[in-house]
Amino acid sequence: SLAWYRHMREHAPVTYSEQHQQWMVFCYDDVKRVLSDYEAFSSEVESEGHMLTPMDVSLVALDPPRHRHLRALITQAFTPRIVTQMTARIEQLVNDLLEKHADRGEMDIIDDLAYPLTVTIIAEILGVPAADRARFRHWSDLLAGVAPFDGSDFMGEMSAYFSHMLDERRREPQEDLISSLLAAQVGGEHLSRLELLGFCILLLVAGNVTSTHLLGNVFLCFDEFPHLLDDLARDLMLLPGVIEEVLRYRSPLRFMFRVAKKDTQLGGQSIHAGQWISAYIASANHDEAVFSHPERFDITRTPNPHLSFGHGVHYCLGAPLARLETRIVLEIMLQRFSSIQRRPGSTLESLDPQGFMQGVKHFPIIF
Ligand code: HEM
Repeated sequence: SLAWYRHMREHAPVTYSEQHQQWMVFCYDDVKRVLSDYEAFSSEVESEGHMLTPMDVSLVALDPPRHRHLRALITQAFTPRIVTQMTARIEQLVNDLLEKHADRGEMDIIDDLAYPLTVTIIAEILGVPAADRARFRHWSDLLAGVAPFDGSDFMGEMSAYFSHMLDERRREPQEDLISSLLAAQVGGEHLSRLELLGFCILLLVAGNVTSTHLLGNVFLCFDEFPHLLDDLARDLMLLPGVIEEVLRYRSPLRFMFRVAKKDTQLGGQSIHAGQWISAYIASANHDEAVFSHPERFDITRTPNPHLSFGHGVHYCLGAPLARLETRIVLEIMLQRFSSIQRRPGSTLESLDPQGFMQGVKHFPIIF
């Protein structure tokens, strides 16, 4: 919780947890360094002795130089310009999803809007059938730790699914990301099968769970600060500031992991090679050394250097897309509906408060 983060920033900003067998880092400058100093803090956190999974060789789990080469392959797919070209498609999907529920005037932001929208968009970018989205959601929730582990071999299922897709595209390339990844070469060599699977799985998961909970968190903030919706209804130009402040105030990802590559000093503590570190983004975003009155929800903060999309070479590739999806949903809802409220009598249930993702399971509204 925010009170615990504040306590830790004041009294134990870099601390070893025996219980979790890892360092925990709470202050802004330290979190920023852990996220970006890949010489000292590696993203290659897979545990020894296990069989490599596709996620272990995905972008998010690689250090430079391999990381740089692989990232270059998909950077073009997510430039702000390319992403802006998706505006019309996102608008159409949002309108269709709202239309489905317009008669009853009620819907769940998470199940009926955020997930279907974000899964469909990322499925279309990758080039996999959006009709399989129930399965994508199930896998993504398990991988992101949002759904309780159900004993299923979801990594195996995902790998089999995407292996099949890769084979199809190899036979018959299309205008999609999977086909371009298949054609891509690094140093004269094609990506390995595991790397290709890693890309698909990472994008599918990163492309929907996080954005979904960002939208849920926007609604949580509407609930906490009721004047926000009225302010926005009067002036849509406020939206970008609102989205950035929600990102800061309720970061969809609470922390990211690294593993120390060598013995390193951080915040007066000695971290040893091989030890794990969790960098608390959600705490850094409330560090009073950087954000004045961090407890205030202030949509006019400029600059607002929150770390919710990470920092450095791993900075979120999907940030322009996540911002665009969120802005379009809110713009359309505010333009179409004169009143939007949490369904009276509904209670909100948070995702696991110790977990990696911060958000709510459902957010029922009436409009
Ligand atoms: C990386 C957050 C949406 C794709 C990251 C990282 C963070 C993050 C914190 C850095 C990880 C690290 O340093 O280890 C978020 C949040 C999102 C969001 C809060 C939504 C609000 C998306 C979307 C996509 C995406 C929509 C895909 C379309 C990625 C990828 C990486 C990444 C591929 C790895 C980049 C790399 O390792 O070079 N994201 N993300 N993200 N994100 Fe996002």
